[in-house]
Amino acid sequence: MTDVLDRPSTSPISTQRHGDVLIVTSNNPPVNALSAAVRQGLVAAIEQADADDAVKAVVIACEGQTFFAGADITEFGKPPVMPWLPMVVDAIENCSKPVVAAIHGTALGGGLEVALGCHYRVAVPDSKLGTPEVKLGLLPGAGGTQRLPRVAGVKKALEMCATGTPISAREAFDCGLVDRLIEGELVSHAVGYAEEVKDVRPLPKSSQRDDRLVEARGQPEIFDEFRKANAKKFRGFEAPDANIRAVQVALEKPYSEGVIEERKLFMELMSGTQARAQQYFFFAERKAAKIEGLPEDARPRDVHKVGLIGAGTMGGGIAMNFLSAGIPVTIIETSQEALDRGTGVMRKNYEASAARGKLTTEQVSKAMGMLTPTLDFAGLADCDMIIEAVFEEMEIKKDVFGRLDRIAKPGAILASNTSYLDIDEIAASTSRPEDVVGLHFFSPANIMKLLEVVRGAKTAPDVLLTAMSIAKKIRKVAVVAGVCHGFIGNRMLMPRQVQATQLLLEGASPKQVDRVHVEFGMPMGPFQMADLAGVDIGWHRDPNRVENVRDALCAIDRWGQKKGAGFYDYDDKRRPSPSPVVQQIIEDFAARQGVERREIPDQEIVERTLYTMVNEGAKILEEGMAQRPSDIDVVWVYGYGWPVYRGGPMFWADSEGLNTIVEGLKRQEQRLGSDFGFAQLLLDKAERGEKFTR
Ligand code: CAA
Repeated sequence: MTDVLDRPSTSPISTQRHGDVLIVTSNNPPVNALSAAVRQGLVAAIEQADADDAVKAVVIACEGQTFFAGADITEFGKPPVMPWLPMVVDAIENCSKPVVAAIHGTALGGGLEVALGCHYRVAVPDSKLGTPEVKLGLLPGAGGTQRLPRVAGVKKALEMCATGTPISAREAFDCGLVDRLIEGELVSHAVGYAEEVKDVRPLPKSSQRDDRLVEARGQPEIFDEFRKANAKKFRGFEAPDANIRAVQVALEKPYSEGVIEERKLFMELMSGTQARAQQYFFFAERKAAKIEGLPEDARPRDVHKVGLIGAGTMGGGIAMNFLSAGIPVTIIETSQEALDRGTGVMRKNYEASAARGKLTTEQVSKAMGMLTPTLDFAGLADCDMIIEAVFEEMEIKKDVFGRLDRIAKPGAILASNTSYLDIDEIAASTSRPEDVVGLHFFSPANIMKLLEVVRGAKTAPDVLLTAMSIAKKIRKVAVVAGVCHGFIGNRMLMPRQVQATQLLLEGASPKQVDRVHVEFGMPMGPFQMADLAGVDIGWHRDPNRVENVRDALCAIDRWGQKKGAGFYDYDDKRRPSPSPVVQQIIEDFAARQGVERREIPDQEIVERTLYTMVNEGAKILEEGMAQRPSDIDVVWVYGYGWPVYRGGPMFWADSEGLNTIVEGLKRQEQRLGSDFGFAQLLLDKAERGEKFTR
């Protein structure tokens, strides 16, 4: 490189001349977000290129881990600072010299829009390109919805904008979004490319292209077909449809009108509650990884090999996470039959993923090749982390941990996958409670993103740190929880379940309660969930002891979907329908308990099942069982499918107003003549007009 022309120490953008190519470099760690200073620097650099006769072409590149990963989300909601991103992208496109984007890492959102403003794009093969704005409740607002279909084709743009899923550089090359894949040093090759195209005129401007639109003009139905195909995925969300409409405008109107329409849709989304919730959640997820109060010198332990006790649904699912991440697993069972069944299910699951094109057959063989099934407990002796997934009973868990204590190597982490039990009591059955931690996976464990990491009273800081870092390695979102019955997620489920069941006695049907939850945005309601998970979970197994509706269902073999009957009847395709038998059981119980049945308004279901959850969340915070309110939201979005466009229960409570929550709960208490047991924190915050999350 020659000729350093300009590198103001305060600007993240610097320029450097290499022959007649001006290299514009951004250095704005960690992800080169397009903050005001970056935008200003980019415009200044383009002006410099325009003004300098010696410059024949421009390369825009980034230092550090990635090309621009998008607008600076921390600036959202603050007074806008000039120049706006659309102006920057236009300035690049209107440069009189060819501009080449040199992409590595992730060119996302505004970052991809900058690249689309460039006349050419080159990328390293392992880079990714995408428009994830929809995940923040938005759409690409700097011309992206209008330029992308003109460059990558309408279908590809539709998928990228409405789903937010990034594509690989190879796919980008195949659809024309990337002009050349670069093997080797990116910037010098980008400069070489710029040299090749420096005299080509007219400059190819994304906004002026029409060729890729022509092919879609004959098939206007693609938009409705796309909506239909993704209806389930998009249910409740506002942003996907706005993205679809914006891309459709690109097809129907000239660019100059399209960008005005795009801006209008963008502003509507930006001022809505869903975008606020989704942006809040973006940071909530990242904050969850941070552990309060750890000594600065704490470092995670090495985990090269994992042991799994139990090859049932849970144990097998957990094991798959490690195998998929390239970490060998030894899995043990008590009988050859159980071991064979468990490993057979794992293989079947992998093969199903391969059949859906998510894995290659080589990847399946590689993962299964790293699995060592054994009946010998001593086979766990060389594991760095051992996770038990045995039957949920304290005495059994204690026995397992006592045995583990005798065989595990010094420094091995001993983890329990319990979903309710006291980790401290389990840890006390070993001579090394500091090595014990809870790792509560959610079912199906190979799919669900959430991991509750339960910090015992004696859990060592480096053990906690290891649990969090291994979670990242196996692509889980981990949240730290304290020791209490059900930790964060299941503890909040309890008041919901109690109220939902009581509502049945008072006159609601399982279908009504479930419908209210589904309309709220949950993937399913409490009774659909019970039928799916098994009504018999935690049942005392005595058919003669019938103390509530659930006991009555279990006693007559209505254990849920697995038996073809639970709160609902199921046909052979597992389609549910209301059950007259269940209705009769409910009415009999109500009569026996003297409960007067009445019409239940939907709002009462919301207040009694969801407001009570918020109250429990406040208790969890009050007792220090969650580090912060946003962690609770992360648990509920990733563990139970709480609609992310409502942020999570604590964010939602803030949006409702904590006073509204308290008043609603008091109203219900009065009606029922019972006491929910208010969290003082909730009462105090409501009184002071404060919020949990903002
Ligand atoms: N703005 C501000 N900060 C951002 C950011 C952004 N766009 N993207 C990431 N960060 C921050 C994170 O909050 C995190 O900060 P802390 O270290 O303080 O927690 C840090 O950068 C690193 O992020 P990750 O932990 O996520 O790092 P990663 O390596 O796992 O992932 C990434 C990197 C793929 C770029 C990921 O951060 C990501 O997906 N970022 C968001 C991308 C995005 O949504 N862009 C579109 C923004 S909207 C837009 O651009 C259009 C518009 O006009 C409105």
